[in-house]
Amino acid sequence: MKRILCILTAVLMMLPALAQKAEKATPLTQEEFLNQALTPPMGWNSWNCFHCNVSEEMLMGMADAMVSSGMKDVGYEYIVVDDCWQVDRDADGWIVCDPERFPHGIKHVADYIHSKGLKFGIYSCVGDKTCAGRPGSQGHEFQDALFYARSGVDYLKYDFCYKNRANSWNAYHTMREALKAAGRPIVFSICEWGSTKPWEWAEGIGHLWRTTGDIGEFWIKGDKKDGRLGVLDIIDLNRDLYPFAGPGHWNDPDMLEVGNGDLTYDENVAHFAMWCMLAAPLMSGNDLRSMPDEIHSILTNKEAIAVDQDSLGVQAHVSVEMGDKQIWVKKLSGDEWAVCFFNRSEKEWNLNYNMMDIPELEGGLYDVRDLWEHKDIGKTDRNVIATIPSHGVLMTRLTPTTVKSKGRR
Ligand code: GAL
Repeated sequence: MKRILCILTAVLMMLPALAQKAEKATPLTQEEFLNQALTPPMGWNSWNCFHCNVSEEMLMGMADAMVSSGMKDVGYEYIVVDDCWQVDRDADGWIVCDPERFPHGIKHVADYIHSKGLKFGIYSCVGDKTCAGRPGSQGHEFQDALFYARSGVDYLKYDFCYKNRANSWNAYHTMREALKAAGRPIVFSICEWGSTKPWEWAEGIGHLWRTTGDIGEFWIKGDKKDGRLGVLDIIDLNRDLYPFAGPGHWNDPDMLEVGNGDLTYDENVAHFAMWCMLAAPLMSGNDLRSMPDEIHSILTNKEAIAVDQDSLGVQAHVSVEMGDKQIWVKKLSGDEWAVCFFNRSEKEWNLNYNMMDIPELEGGLYDVRDLWEHKDIGKTDRNVIATIPSHGVLMTRLTPTTVKSKGRR
Protein backbone atom coordinates (compact mmCIF):
# COMPACT_ATOMS: atom_id res chain seq x y z
CA MET A 1 0.00 0.00 0.00
CA LYS A 2 2.74 2.41 1.02
CA ARG A 3 4.55 1.53 -2.14
CA ILE A 4 1.50 2.37 -4.23
CA LEU A 5 1.25 5.65 -2.33
CA CYS A 6 4.86 6.44 -3.10
CA ILE A 7 4.40 5.72 -6.81
CA LEU A 8 1.17 7.70 -6.81
CA THR A 9 2.91 10.65 -5.19
CA ALA A 10 5.63 10.49 -7.80
CA VAL A 11 3.09 10.38 -10.62
CA LEU A 12 1.10 13.24 -9.10
CA MET A 13 4.27 15.20 -8.77
CA MET A 14 4.96 14.82 -12.45
CA LEU A 15 1.45 15.67 -13.63
CA PRO A 16 2.03 19.39 -13.96
CA ALA A 17 5.20 18.74 -15.93
CA LEU A 18 3.44 16.22 -18.15
CA ALA A 19 0.49 18.54 -18.64
CA GLN A 20 2.83 21.21 -19.88
CA LYS A 21 4.76 18.76 -21.95
CA ALA A 22 5.22 21.37 -24.64
CA GLU A 23 7.02 23.51 -22.09
CA LYS A 24 10.47 22.00 -22.26
CA ALA A 25 13.15 22.64 -19.67
CA THR A 26 15.52 25.38 -20.72
CA PRO A 27 18.92 23.71 -20.75
CA LEU A 28 21.71 25.25 -18.73
CA THR A 29 24.60 26.60 -20.74
CA GLN A 30 28.01 25.17 -19.92
CA GLU A 31 28.81 28.49 -18.26
CA GLU A 32 25.71 28.31 -16.06
CA PHE A 33 26.52 24.72 -15.17
CA LEU A 34 30.10 25.60 -14.28
CA ASN A 35 29.16 28.64 -12.27
CA GLN A 36 28.40 26.50 -9.19
CA ALA A 37 30.50 25.37 -6.23
CA LEU A 38 32.92 28.28 -6.57
CA THR A 39 33.96 27.40 -3.02
CA PRO A 40 34.05 23.78 -1.79
CA PRO A 41 30.51 22.48 -1.12
CA MET A 42 29.55 22.08 2.55
CA GLY A 43 26.84 19.85 3.92
CA TRP A 44 26.01 16.47 5.34
CA ASN A 45 25.82 13.02 3.73
CA SER A 46 24.08 9.94 5.10
CA TRP A 47 26.56 7.23 4.10
CA ASN A 48 29.31 7.31 6.75
CA CYS A 49 26.93 7.04 9.67
CA PHE A 50 23.78 5.39 8.32
CA HIS A 51 24.72 3.38 5.21
CA CYS A 52 21.45 1.97 3.81
CA ASN A 53 19.45 2.96 6.85
CA VAL A 54 18.01 6.13 5.28
CA SER A 55 14.48 7.54 5.51
CA GLU A 56 12.61 10.78 4.98
CA GLU A 57 12.14 11.13 8.72
CA MET A 58 15.86 10.85 9.40
CA LEU A 59 16.80 13.27 6.60
CA MET A 60 14.29 15.84 7.76
CA GLY A 61 15.56 15.45 11.33
CA MET A 62 19.07 16.04 10.05
CA ALA A 63 17.94 19.23 8.28
CA ASP A 64 16.38 20.42 11.55
CA ALA A 65 19.62 19.64 13.38
CA MET A 66 21.72 21.42 10.78
CA VAL A 67 19.74 24.56 11.49
CA SER A 68 19.37 24.25 15.28
CA SER A 69 23.04 23.30 15.81
CA GLY A 70 24.18 26.48 14.04
CA MET A 71 25.86 24.48 11.27
CA LYS A 72 23.76 26.24 8.65
CA ASP A 73 24.96 29.59 10.03
CA VAL A 74 28.60 28.67 9.46
CA GLY A 75 28.01 27.57 5.87
CA TYR A 76 26.76 23.97 5.76
CA GLU A 77 24.12 23.82 3.09
CA TYR A 78 23.44 20.42 1.50
CA ILE A 79 21.62 17.47 3.03
CA VAL A 80 22.59 14.55 0.78
CA VAL A 81 20.94 11.16 0.79
CA ASP A 82 23.46 8.55 -0.36
CA ASP A 83 22.73 5.03 -1.63
CA CYS A 84 19.55 3.02 -0.90
CA TRP A 85 16.77 5.60 -1.27
CA GLN A 86 15.75 3.91 -4.53
CA VAL A 87 14.24 0.44 -5.04
CA ASP A 88 12.90 0.08 -8.55
CA ARG A 89 11.87 1.58 -11.87
CA ASP A 90 8.26 1.80 -12.94
CA ALA A 91 6.88 0.62 -16.28
CA ASP A 92 7.92 3.91 -17.90
CA GLY A 93 11.42 3.72 -16.52
CA TRP A 94 11.06 6.38 -13.82
CA ILE A 95 13.10 5.72 -10.70
CA VAL A 96 11.00 4.67 -7.69
CA CYS A 97 11.94 5.52 -4.12
CA ASP A 98 11.59 3.08 -1.22
CA PRO A 99 7.92 3.46 -0.27
CA GLU A 100 8.47 2.26 3.29
CA ARG A 101 11.22 4.75 4.00
CA PHE A 102 10.03 7.62 1.80
CA PRO A 103 6.23 7.35 2.04
CA HIS A 104 5.74 10.91 0.77
CA GLY A 105 8.24 10.69 -2.07
CA ILE A 106 11.51 12.47 -2.76
CA LYS A 107 10.05 15.86 -3.64
CA HIS A 108 8.45 16.04 -0.22
CA VAL A 109 11.90 15.68 1.40
CA ALA A 110 13.42 18.25 -0.96
CA ASP A 111 10.61 20.71 -0.23
CA TYR A 112 11.08 20.31 3.51
CA ILE A 113 14.84 20.79 3.25
CA HIS A 114 14.34 23.87 1.08
CA SER A 115 11.85 25.26 3.58
CA LYS A 116 14.72 25.24 6.11
CA GLY A 117 16.85 27.35 3.77
CA LEU A 118 19.00 24.34 2.90
CA LYS A 119 19.65 22.38 -0.31
CA PHE A 120 19.01 18.75 -1.16
CA GLY A 121 21.39 16.19 -2.66
CA ILE A 122 20.81 12.70 -4.00
CA TYR A 123 22.89 9.72 -5.12
CA SER A 124 23.03 7.52 -8.20
CA CYS A 125 25.50 5.46 -10.14
CA VAL A 126 26.98 5.17 -13.64
CA GLY A 127 26.13 1.44 -13.85
CA ASP A 128 22.81 -0.34 -14.09
CA LYS A 129 23.05 -0.88 -10.33
CA THR A 130 24.40 1.25 -7.51
CA CYS A 131 27.16 -0.01 -5.25
CA ALA A 132 24.50 -1.30 -2.84
CA GLY A 133 22.69 -3.08 -5.69
CA ARG A 134 19.85 -0.57 -6.17
CA PRO A 135 18.82 0.62 -9.66
CA GLY A 136 21.57 2.74 -11.25
CA SER A 137 21.27 5.34 -14.01
CA GLN A 138 22.79 3.50 -16.96
CA GLY A 139 20.50 4.03 -19.95
CA HIS A 140 18.25 6.33 -17.89
CA GLU A 141 20.57 9.30 -17.47
CA PHE A 142 18.34 11.93 -19.08
CA GLN A 143 15.20 10.59 -17.44
CA ASP A 144 16.88 10.52 -14.02
CA ALA A 145 18.23 14.04 -14.44
CA LEU A 146 14.72 15.19 -15.28
CA PHE A 147 13.41 13.43 -12.19
CA TYR A 148 16.05 15.21 -10.08
CA ALA A 149 15.24 18.61 -11.58
CA ARG A 150 11.50 18.12 -11.07
CA SER A 151 12.02 16.86 -7.53
CA GLY A 152 14.09 19.89 -6.52
CA VAL A 153 17.47 18.18 -6.28
CA ASP A 154 20.45 20.57 -5.97
CA TYR A 155 23.38 18.12 -5.82
CA LEU A 156 24.10 14.71 -7.36
CA LYS A 157 26.73 12.28 -6.12
CA TYR A 158 27.36 9.84 -8.98
CA ASP A 159 29.12 6.56 -8.20
CA PHE A 160 31.04 4.10 -10.41
CA CYS A 161 29.86 0.53 -9.62
CA TYR A 162 28.44 -2.03 -12.13
CA LYS A 163 29.69 0.09 -14.99
CA ASN A 164 30.15 -2.70 -17.57
CA ARG A 165 33.51 -1.35 -18.62
CA ALA A 166 32.02 2.10 -19.24
CA ASN A 167 34.65 4.66 -20.03
CA SER A 168 34.65 7.06 -17.09
CA TRP A 169 34.86 10.24 -19.18
CA ASN A 170 31.90 9.12 -21.34
CA ALA A 171 29.83 8.07 -18.35
CA TYR A 172 30.28 11.31 -16.41
CA HIS A 173 30.08 13.44 -19.55
CA THR A 174 26.71 11.83 -20.39
CA MET A 175 25.31 12.64 -16.95
CA ARG A 176 26.65 16.19 -17.12
CA GLU A 177 24.82 16.66 -20.43
CA ALA A 178 21.68 15.18 -18.86
CA LEU A 179 21.88 17.56 -15.90
CA LYS A 180 22.37 20.55 -18.17
CA ALA A 181 19.44 19.45 -20.36
CA ALA A 182 17.19 19.14 -17.31
CA GLY A 183 17.68 22.84 -16.76
CA ARG A 184 18.16 23.03 -12.97
CA PRO A 185 21.50 24.01 -11.40
CA ILE A 186 22.74 20.78 -9.79
CA VAL A 187 26.23 20.43 -8.34
CA PHE A 188 27.80 17.32 -9.86
CA SER A 189 29.94 15.19 -7.53
CA ILE A 190 31.99 12.57 -9.36
CA CYS A 191 32.68 9.46 -7.30
CA GLU A 192 34.95 7.07 -9.21
CA TRP A 193 37.37 6.82 -6.27
CA GLY A 194 40.31 8.34 -8.19
CA SER A 195 40.47 5.14 -10.25
CA THR A 196 40.86 6.89 -13.60
CA LYS A 197 42.61 10.04 -12.33
CA PRO A 198 39.61 12.39 -12.63
CA TRP A 199 41.81 15.36 -11.69
CA GLU A 200 43.24 15.01 -15.22
CA TRP A 201 39.89 15.08 -17.08
CA ALA A 202 36.97 16.08 -14.86
CA GLU A 203 37.31 19.86 -14.67
CA GLY A 204 34.35 21.16 -16.67
CA ILE A 205 32.46 17.88 -16.21
CA GLY A 206 31.94 17.75 -12.45
CA HIS A 207 32.43 20.27 -9.67
CA LEU A 208 34.23 17.83 -7.38
CA TRP A 209 35.72 14.40 -7.77
CA ARG A 210 36.65 11.78 -5.23
CA THR A 211 40.38 11.15 -5.28
CA THR A 212 40.50 7.88 -3.32
CA GLY A 213 38.61 4.84 -2.15
CA ASP A 214 36.27 5.12 0.81
CA ILE A 215 37.29 6.78 4.04
CA GLY A 216 36.94 4.89 7.34
CA GLU A 217 36.39 6.22 10.85
CA PHE A 218 40.00 5.57 11.87
CA TRP A 219 43.41 7.23 11.57
CA ILE A 220 45.32 4.72 9.45
CA LYS A 221 44.27 1.65 7.57
CA GLY A 222 46.38 -0.54 9.89
CA ASP A 223 44.91 -3.98 10.15
CA LYS A 224 41.34 -3.01 9.21
CA LYS A 225 40.44 -5.50 6.51
CA ASP A 226 37.46 -3.86 4.88
CA GLY A 227 39.50 -1.98 2.29
CA ARG A 228 38.66 1.50 3.53
CA LEU A 229 41.38 4.09 4.07
CA GLY A 230 42.29 6.00 7.21
CA VAL A 231 42.34 9.79 7.52
CA LEU A 232 46.15 9.86 7.28
CA ASP A 233 46.21 7.56 4.22
CA ILE A 234 43.82 9.92 2.45
CA ILE A 235 45.82 13.03 3.33
CA ASP A 236 48.89 11.39 1.80
CA LEU A 237 47.03 10.40 -1.36
CA ASN A 238 45.91 14.01 -1.85
CA ARG A 239 49.24 15.59 -1.14
CA ASP A 240 50.35 16.05 -4.74
CA LEU A 241 46.97 16.87 -6.24
CA TYR A 242 47.00 20.58 -5.35
CA PRO A 243 47.61 21.81 -8.92
CA PHE A 244 44.22 20.41 -9.99
CA ALA A 245 41.92 22.18 -7.51
CA GLY A 246 40.34 25.59 -7.97
CA PRO A 247 37.02 27.44 -7.84
CA GLY A 248 34.32 25.17 -9.27
CA HIS A 249 36.53 22.07 -9.52
CA TRP A 250 37.69 20.42 -6.33
CA ASN A 251 39.60 17.34 -5.27
CA ASP A 252 37.31 15.44 -2.91
CA PRO A 253 39.15 13.42 -0.25
CA ASP A 254 35.77 11.96 0.82
CA MET A 255 33.21 12.87 3.42
CA LEU A 256 34.18 13.72 6.98
CA GLU A 257 34.40 11.10 9.70
CA VAL A 258 34.62 13.76 12.41
CA GLY A 259 32.64 12.39 15.35
CA ASN A 260 32.60 8.81 14.10
CA GLY A 261 34.34 5.67 15.30
CA ASP A 262 37.83 5.40 16.70
CA LEU A 263 39.14 8.92 16.12
CA THR A 264 40.44 10.77 19.19
CA TYR A 265 39.73 14.45 19.81
CA ASP A 266 43.15 15.47 18.43
CA GLU A 267 42.64 13.27 15.37
CA ASN A 268 39.21 14.76 14.75
CA VAL A 269 40.73 18.25 14.92
CA ALA A 270 43.58 17.28 12.59
CA HIS A 271 41.14 15.59 10.18
CA PHE A 272 38.97 18.72 9.98
CA ALA A 273 41.92 21.12 9.86
CA MET A 274 43.60 19.19 7.07
CA TRP A 275 40.38 18.97 5.03
CA CYS A 276 40.20 22.77 5.34
CA MET A 277 43.82 23.09 4.25
CA LEU A 278 43.08 20.81 1.27
CA ALA A 279 40.18 23.08 0.18
CA ALA A 280 38.09 19.92 0.44
CA PRO A 281 34.32 19.70 0.28
CA LEU A 282 33.18 19.63 3.92
CA MET A 283 30.45 17.00 3.99
CA SER A 284 29.91 16.02 7.59
CA GLY A 285 29.08 12.35 8.13
CA ASN A 286 28.08 12.06 11.78
CA ASP A 287 24.66 12.08 13.42
CA LEU A 288 23.99 15.82 13.74
CA ARG A 289 20.99 15.15 15.99
CA SER A 290 23.12 13.91 18.85
CA MET A 291 26.63 15.29 18.53
CA PRO A 292 28.74 15.97 21.60
CA ASP A 293 29.80 19.60 22.19
CA GLU A 294 33.40 18.73 21.41
CA ILE A 295 32.45 17.48 17.92
CA HIS A 296 30.12 20.42 17.35
CA SER A 297 32.93 22.83 18.18
CA ILE A 298 35.18 21.18 15.60
CA LEU A 299 32.61 21.16 12.80
CA THR A 300 31.64 24.78 13.43
CA ASN A 301 35.10 26.29 13.79
CA LYS A 302 34.49 29.38 11.67
CA GLU A 303 38.14 30.34 11.40
CA ALA A 304 39.09 26.91 10.05
CA ILE A 305 36.09 26.95 7.69
CA ALA A 306 37.17 30.37 6.38
CA VAL A 307 40.45 28.78 5.30
CA ASP A 308 38.56 26.04 3.44
CA GLN A 309 36.17 28.50 1.83
CA ASP A 310 38.74 31.11 0.85
CA SER A 311 37.79 32.59 -2.52
CA LEU A 312 41.21 31.99 -4.06
CA GLY A 313 40.42 28.27 -3.98
CA VAL A 314 44.00 27.08 -3.57
CA GLN A 315 44.70 23.63 -2.10
CA ALA A 316 47.56 23.44 0.41
CA HIS A 317 50.86 21.75 -0.28
CA VAL A 318 53.69 20.54 1.94
CA SER A 319 56.30 23.26 2.25
CA VAL A 320 58.65 21.84 4.88
CA GLU A 321 59.05 18.23 5.94
CA MET A 322 61.00 17.04 8.95
CA GLY A 323 60.45 13.29 9.15
CA ASP A 324 56.94 12.72 10.43
CA LYS A 325 56.38 16.43 11.07
CA GLN A 326 55.13 18.57 8.22
CA ILE A 327 54.35 22.21 7.54
CA TRP A 328 51.54 22.67 5.03
CA VAL A 329 50.85 26.08 3.48
CA LYS A 330 47.75 27.38 1.70
CA LYS A 331 47.74 30.72 -0.06
CA LEU A 332 44.67 32.79 0.78
CA SER A 333 43.17 35.86 -0.83
CA GLY A 334 44.42 39.26 0.36
CA ASP A 335 48.06 38.06 0.60
CA GLU A 336 47.26 35.97 3.64
CA TRP A 337 48.37 32.40 4.30
CA ALA A 338 47.16 29.44 6.27
CA VAL A 339 50.05 27.48 7.76
CA CYS A 340 49.40 24.15 9.43
CA PHE A 341 51.99 22.30 11.51
CA PHE A 342 50.94 18.66 11.24
CA ASN A 343 52.32 16.17 13.75
CA ARG A 344 51.94 12.71 12.24
CA SER A 345 54.16 11.10 14.88
CA GLU A 346 53.24 9.13 17.97
CA LYS A 347 54.95 11.72 20.22
CA GLU A 348 54.25 15.35 21.10
CA TRP A 349 55.95 17.92 18.89
CA ASN A 350 57.60 20.58 21.03
CA LEU A 351 57.59 23.25 18.40
CA ASN A 352 60.03 26.16 18.55
CA TYR A 353 60.12 27.35 14.98
CA ASN A 354 61.01 30.44 13.02
CA MET A 355 58.29 30.87 10.42
CA MET A 356 60.66 33.02 8.36
CA ASP A 357 62.13 29.65 7.34
CA ILE A 358 59.01 28.79 5.35
CA PRO A 359 60.14 29.57 1.78
CA GLU A 360 56.70 30.61 0.48
CA LEU A 361 56.52 33.49 2.98
CA GLU A 362 59.65 35.06 1.45
CA GLY A 363 60.72 36.52 4.76
CA GLY A 364 57.60 38.73 5.03
CA LEU A 365 56.33 39.99 8.37
CA TYR A 366 52.94 38.54 9.34
CA ASP A 367 50.64 38.53 12.37
CA VAL A 368 50.06 34.92 13.42
CA ARG A 369 46.75 33.65 14.73
CA ASP A 370 46.02 30.21 16.20
CA LEU A 371 42.77 29.07 14.55
CA TRP A 372 41.87 26.51 17.22
CA GLU A 373 42.67 28.59 20.29
CA HIS A 374 41.22 31.66 18.50
CA LYS A 375 44.16 33.73 19.73
CA ASP A 376 46.78 35.97 18.16
CA ILE A 377 50.12 34.40 19.01
CA GLY A 378 52.65 36.96 17.79
CA LYS A 379 54.44 37.82 14.61
CA THR A 380 56.66 35.88 12.27
CA ASP A 381 59.76 37.73 13.55
CA ARG A 382 59.63 35.64 16.74
CA ASN A 383 59.71 31.86 16.98
CA VAL A 384 56.37 30.18 17.39
CA ILE A 385 56.42 28.01 20.49
CA ALA A 386 53.75 25.35 21.00
CA THR A 387 53.16 21.76 22.04
CA ILE A 388 51.39 19.86 19.30
CA PRO A 389 49.88 16.56 20.37
CA SER A 390 50.51 13.31 18.53
CA HIS A 391 48.25 13.17 15.43
CA GLY A 392 47.48 16.84 16.07
CA VAL A 393 47.92 20.21 14.42
CA LEU A 394 48.74 23.82 15.08
CA MET A 395 46.71 25.61 12.43
CA THR A 396 47.48 29.29 11.92
CA ARG A 397 46.46 32.20 9.74
CA LEU A 398 49.05 34.74 8.71
CA THR A 399 48.05 38.30 7.87
CA PRO A 400 50.63 40.75 6.51
CA THR A 401 51.46 42.99 9.47
CA THR A 402 50.94 46.16 7.52
CA VAL A 403 47.37 45.14 6.58
CA LYS A 404 44.82 46.11 9.20
CA SER A 405 42.70 43.23 10.44
CA LYS A 406 39.49 42.62 8.47
CA GLY A 407 37.07 42.32 11.31
CA ARG A 408 37.62 38.64 11.95
CA ARG A 409 39.17 39.15 15.39
C1 GAL B 1 30.82 3.81 -2.60
C2 GAL B 1 31.10 5.27 -2.34
C3 GAL B 1 30.61 5.58 -0.94
C4 GAL B 1 29.13 5.33 -0.87
C5 GAL B 1 28.83 3.88 -1.28
C6 GAL B 1 27.34 3.63 -1.40
O1 GAL B 1 31.24 3.47 -3.88
O2 GAL B 1 32.48 5.52 -2.46
O3 GAL B 1 30.91 6.92 -0.60
O4 GAL B 1 28.46 6.23 -1.70
O5 GAL B 1 29.42 3.58 -2.53
O6 GAL B 1 27.04 2.34 -1.85
